[in-house]
Amino acid sequence: MNISVFASGNGTNFKAILDSIDKGYLSSKITALFTDRADCGAAETARGKKIKCFLISRKEFPTLTRKEFSGKILSALKETETDFIILSGFMNLIPDEVIQEFRYRIINIHPALLPSFGGKGMYGINVHKAVISSGVKVSGITIHFADKNYDEGSIIFQKCCDVESDEDEYTLQKKIKALEHKYYSFVIKKFEDGKVEIRNGKVFIN
Ligand code: GAR
Repeated sequence: MNISVFASGNGTNFKAILDSIDKGYLSSKITALFTDRADCGAAETARGKKIKCFLISRKEFPTLTRKEFSGKILSALKETETDFIILSGFMNLIPDEVIQEFRYRIINIHPALLPSFGGKGMYGINVHKAVISSGVKVSGITIHFADKNYDEGSIIFQKCCDVESDEDEYTLQKKIKALEHKYYSFVIKKFEDGKVEIRNGKVFIN
């Protein structure tokens, strides 16, 4: 697959996916990185790997209408011959036009067990803080199809881990990042191999 990654942060998941490609576990190619922060770790990694980087911050294009902005993203996706999109800590909503065009070809990772602890403002360390203060005993990762709302869309894969009694948000984040780095590539491989099936709105991995 020709994959475009959308990221706003450190890009550790982006790096883990690149590693899986370098090791030959994945056969896809990363054709572009889309970011809203030119100075983020993910953008730095892309530059280091000579991967095309598109800045798609709404602030950079204040005069464009929402539709024109979506059109800009769609034409960059076309230009790079993208056939699959991976959201990897991208802190903006994906325009509906892009979701429609890439239906069932755009996935997101979330650092908790959705549908709990998701939605606007629930990203990165905020999620782990909310998990710890709620007192739940398990957390984990969710990989799901992206939808027009934050952290919605059919769930593809989940993996859980214990929340220990002496856990804080940072130890939990470390545990969860390790799960993300392992299982995002695992799920991408299932897509590469055509092993993801959607039946009656539910997703099955064969
Ligand atoms: C990841 O933990 C990902 O699950 C989270 O952002 C982090 C990005 O880390 N995404 C969300 O919270 C989405 N709601 P990274 O930049 O090191 O890959």
